[in-house]
Amino acid sequence: MDTYLETERLVLRRFTADDAELLIELDSDPAVMRYLSGGVPTEPEIVRERYLPNILAGYEKWGGDLGLFAAQEKDGGAFIGWFILRPEAEGPLDEVELGYRLRQAAWGKGYATEGSRALLDKAFTELGVRMVWAETMFLNLGSQNVMKKLGMTLARTLPTPPDMAMVEGAEHGGVRYEITKEQR
Ligand SMILES: CC(C)(COP(=O)(O)OP(=O)(O)OC[C@H]1O[C@@H](n2cnc3c(N)ncnc32)[C@H](O)[C@@H]1OP(=O)(O)O)[C@@H](O)C(=O)NCCC(=O)NCCS
Repeated sequence: MDTYLETERLVLRRFTADDAELLIELDSDPAVMRYLSGGVPTEPEIVRERYLPNILAGYEKWGGDLGLFAAQEKDGGAFIGWFILRPEAEGPLDEVELGYRLRQAAWGKGYATEGSRALLDKAFTELGVRMVWAETMFLNLGSQNVMKKLGMTLARTLPTPPDMAMVEGAEHGGVRYEITKEQR
């Protein structure tokens, strides 16, 4: 396994070309997609032809240090979802986005916080990152609570992008949280 990071209970690893079904299954749960697409699953062809190739291309671009990483339980090896630590396509390498998308079966166990904490540590101590940001819909309290537990603070509110207009609570917009190396 191409391990990227280990925490007490999780292993984060790089995705491979064989992982399409894991991503398709994750995005097929309307509860997982509630604040991302309004509950609509991602088309399997889009995962196979666009998402997964982009993930793999990201490892090439950033030397395997940044991108999207599959998370598995150490105990038993079950896939629980993914974490992201990634700069914007044309943005500076020392400002990266943190994100997470976990299977419903894995919610409520502190996994999002545990994986994200380890990613913040790695970003600030090994990867030369200066600032980490995360965005979510205003109504996605679970996601915001993870950001708060990480010590991130509200930087600003965000308008809802036009392609998210069908998401529940779109009228409330979104939020952006940030944390700098000094604040960590
Ligand atoms: C949001 C998500 C990542 C949270 O994962 P998780 O592993 O359950 O989060 P944690 O267990 O680390 O919880 C962190 C804190 O948030 C709270 N929390 C988690 N889900 C919550 C929810 N739906 N509503 C309110 N609080 C919630 C937890 O209680 C915990 O706080 P506590 O320690 O004080 O009890 C997970 O629900 C998910 O993947 N959802 C679908 C995809 C998604 O929305 N991703 C974010 C897009 S920006």
